[in-house]
Amino acid sequence: MTPGRRPQKPKPRRSRAAPERNRLSIAPAYGAGPGPARVAGISGPRLTRARRRARMGRMEERRQAPASRLIDDDELDDLEREFVGRLRGRVLEIGAGEGENFGALHSDVEWVGLEPDAARRAELATRAREWGHRAEPLDARAEAIPLPDHSVDGVVATYVLCSVDDPAIALAEVRRVLAPGGRVVFIDHVVAPPHTAKRAVQRAATPFTAKFCHGCHWDRDSARALAEAGFLGDDVRPLRVRSMPFGPVPTLLFDGHAP
Ligand SMILES: C[S@@+](CC[C@H](N)C(=O)[O-])C[C@H]1O[C@@H](n2cnc3c(N)ncnc32)[C@H](O)[C@@H]1O
Repeated sequence: MTPGRRPQKPKPRRSRAAPERNRLSIAPAYGAGPGPARVAGISGPRLTRARRRARMGRMEERRQAPASRLIDDDELDDLEREFVGRLRGRVLEIGAGEGENFGALHSDVEWVGLEPDAARRAELATRAREWGHRAEPLDARAEAIPLPDHSVDGVVATYVLCSVDDPAIALAEVRRVLAPGGRVVFIDHVVAPPHTAKRAVQRAATPFTAKFCHGCHWDRDSARALAEAGFLGDDVRPLRVRSMPFGPVPTLLFDGHAP
């Protein structure tokens, strides 16, 4: 804890809902029952082989999906503090909300915050001053960061990639403002592995969550977006966070750097 700074209890995190079911339990038993082709009596063996290959492909994809550890909210809070606390130097926080991460930032960090929501930004400004940060939060979106190229040493965003309008444009902007080799920390709930019931639920729910939950997308593949934006992972942890009533929420902690 930084001397002279007001201790801050982390705010409860947003709901990370969507039911988790045993992935294998949703797949019909391999080869069970007559397929449509057998029922129809046309091209039976060929179609059955194609379906089997597709099913084998899905099973292999599930098998190769990175194993994710199941944790609870307290452990997530500890991990968030650890990851955010690794940043040093001039750090840009995008979608800084009401300053939920101030307590986790290292005391040497020169904080620059960006928050498009006016009410949150006003609260953020107050709390930033209380924590001794001098920069006024920027009224901007991640898709158009009003900072020069290579002007920050690090970027942090927690539970923001799910909300931005366009993750690819936002991440390209992050790369632009980040110094070469600069550190990035992204933490977010993410889409479940392919061919799972949870992923199907996330896909179905997202039009509603995006409309009614401040633009929150339940089905963002942020690991892929980060890789496509060219970020290299140094400590990447796919986790599942216990949550009620819908079950564990796939969550990604990404500590990496720009090449
Ligand atoms: C779920 S809140 C997370 C707030 C905070 N980072 C935290 O961890 O508690 C998402 C934040 O992203 C902000 N946001 C939404 N769209 C954004 C965008 N395009 N660029 C930057 N921030 C955005 C919202 O205003 C909101 O403050």
